[in-house]
Amino acid sequence: MNTLISNMLAKKEKELIYTDLIKNRKEYSETWEVDAKHFFENSYYDWMAEGVAESKNILEIGCGAGYSTLALLNNNHKVISIEENSFCIDKTEKLLKSKGFNVAKINNREVYKTSPQSRYILEYKNIAKELGEYDVILVQGDIINDPKFIRWLTEDSAFSIDAVVCWLLGTHGSRGSNQVFDLSQVQESSTARIHTQNIIYELCDEILKENDYLHIVDRVIDVDNVDIVESVSMNHEGQASTSKMKVLGVKKMIYEEATKGMSMNIRESTKDSKMIDRKGIYNCCDKLFVSVLSQKVINNL
Ligand SMILES: C[S@@+](CC[C@H](N)C(=O)[O-])C[C@H]1O[C@@H](n2cnc3c(N)ncnc32)[C@H](O)[C@@H]1O
Repeated sequence: MNTLISNMLAKKEKELIYTDLIKNRKEYSETWEVDAKHFFENSYYDWMAEGVAESKNILEIGCGAGYSTLALLNNNHKVISIEENSFCIDKTEKLLKSKGFNVAKINNREVYKTSPQSRYILEYKNIAKELGEYDVILVQGDIINDPKFIRWLTEDSAFSIDAVVCWLLGTHGSRGSNQVFDLSQVQESSTARIHTQNIIYELCDEILKENDYLHIVDRVIDVDNVDIVESVSMNHEGQASTSKMKVLGVKKMIYEEATKGMSMNIRESTKDSKMIDRKGIYNCCDKLFVSVLSQKVINNL
């Protein structure tokens, strides 16, 4: 193949991967909005916010359509949200502005590239040092692959975070083609989620002060009638074990899915306390939110 043709094919492939990424991000933001609105209207996010009631300044990982962020703001927190999906950021900005909040949006940080293995790579640009006073700052970025965000957060921003929240982590269909994951990490959505949460536990060592909190909320179905609190607790103790975070406790709450929302892969607890994914929503059993609170402990005696 001559160079001209191979360059043209490479360009075409790059365009196709990018088109797919945009399409999947957009679809995800629209579908998630249905779930998030339903969760907000049923005060589920207020229940989640109780987990970080003591902390003023929150770093939220993934704002989705903005309803979780709205609940945090309504509960008197100041928030920085880092969100990978620009469509989600736009929806969040619109929602929060319509409720009268003062919003800063830092978008267009992405530098898009493709790799020879037909995967895509995203790098992120610097964030301006001085942003001024806002109720909420929305940053487009990736918590597992954005050293410039972490540097800005820890060195340049005037915002000193007291807690990290990571509620209902999930992502769009193109994310598995992002080179930030190796393929074994995205075989199932639960492996991608656990991989991301593991990185978040370790990042908390870097970005939190002693006694600050990490609050994770996941969705679980109890098919085998096991003790959910105990099995989730064990799983998270394992996840936290490579960090200075110590799991303080797990709470659960039965919730109802939105009728027309996203049919999510839900974390399911089995007897041997392994977490597996099954597509679809089960009508047979209760769906539960499980909330896991951990704290940064320096001298863990
Ligand atoms: C299911 S939504 C939940 C959003 C919100 N926390 C809520 O409860 O409504 C998960 C969001 O996390 C974002 N996300 C997933 N992985 C991320 C990462 N590594 N960095 C930043 N955002 C991420 C996704 O783009 C998605 O919008």
